[in-house]
Amino acid sequence: MRGKMGRIAGAGILAAVCVLGLPGCGKEQPEDSGKNYIGVAYYNQSDTFLNELLDSFRSQLKEMQGEDTETVVMIRDAAGSQRTQDDQVKELISAGCDVLCVNLVDRADPSEIIDLAREHEVPIIFFNREPVAEDLMQWDGLYYVGAEAEQSGYMQGELAADLIKSDSRTDRNGDGKIQYVVLEGELGHQDAIIRTETVVEALTDQGIELEKLSYQIANWNRAQAENRMEQLIGQYGSQIELVLANNDDMALGALDAYEKSNNTEAAFPVFFGIDGTKAGLEAVVDSRLAGTVYNDKEGQAGAMAQIAVALLTGRGMEEIEFQKDRCVYLPYEKVTKENVDAFLMRGL
Ligand code: GAL
Ligand code: CA
Repeated sequence: MRGKMGRIAGAGILAAVCVLGLPGCGKEQPEDSGKNYIGVAYYNQSDTFLNELLDSFRSQLKEMQGEDTETVVMIRDAAGSQRTQDDQVKELISAGCDVLCVNLVDRADPSEIIDLAREHEVPIIFFNREPVAEDLMQWDGLYYVGAEAEQSGYMQGELAADLIKSDSRTDRNGDGKIQYVVLEGELGHQDAIIRTETVVEALTDQGIELEKLSYQIANWNRAQAENRMEQLIGQYGSQIELVLANNDDMALGALDAYEKSNNTEAAFPVFFGIDGTKAGLEAVVDSRLAGTVYNDKEGQAGAMAQIAVALLTGRGMEEIEFQKDRCVYLPYEKVTKENVDAFLMRGL
């Protein structure tokens, strides 16, 4: 995907950034300015992975800059409310946005946004939280960029199985089973549900005997995961041998809880995350996380930028390899201490 960027670098895009709350935001008068406006609406600004993805989106747009066109990116945080996001989309459209990138709060509830966009003929690139297929099919101005959740959970399970097979100390009480807990993302989020299912499936496929101690929801959030883990440590003491977290932030929150507990490191379980955020990768370097699965934010941001530019300029759409008509799915990759350096380089 990144290789193609060069080919559309001449598209004439200068990305400037306008974040909610900064003076001047929302007051632009695009009709008169000759600039392009991209509106970005995302579900929650406390989400580490999405903040890193959006940083990459802005810098990749900037890479495509030329002299004669300027693109302003206007970002809105829905703080977890679909109603707020619906209003923000309305505001972005009336501010004159030419393209929208929308990370839905509730993936099952995009109809108001789709109706608005369609009425004003403003195309939408949905990202990371995938609308159901019937909704995406409502209009050919709707796109999706993301990744296949099955793959991430399965890879996390394979990473865990490799470690369990190669290091007998993982089964600390030596009972032939791995006592584990899962820290889950949001209730009802497809990535959370599917990752939780497929990680266990992969471990079982690899012949690992498991004993589930607990599943806890921590909403992708480090502080919430620390809190849940504190309770689990209280309940299970040093019985927990494996922590499977639906993302890196929650794996790190679980680690925070152990580091603050009076367990010695020898009594720590092993931790696996998903995402490969900056902090997640650094924890793999330090062996604090046993592994993670790279959620290709640069690839996803690049595909979003590429589609946005094609929509703005009317050029380059045919170079994009879509699946299911108007979707782009970037592959996940396994990350361990052995290959982590290559992933650290990507964010630079
Ligand atoms: C997932 C990601 C999580 C969180 C979530 C938000 O793909 O792994 O860390 O960002 O999306 O929808
Ligand atoms: Ca055991």
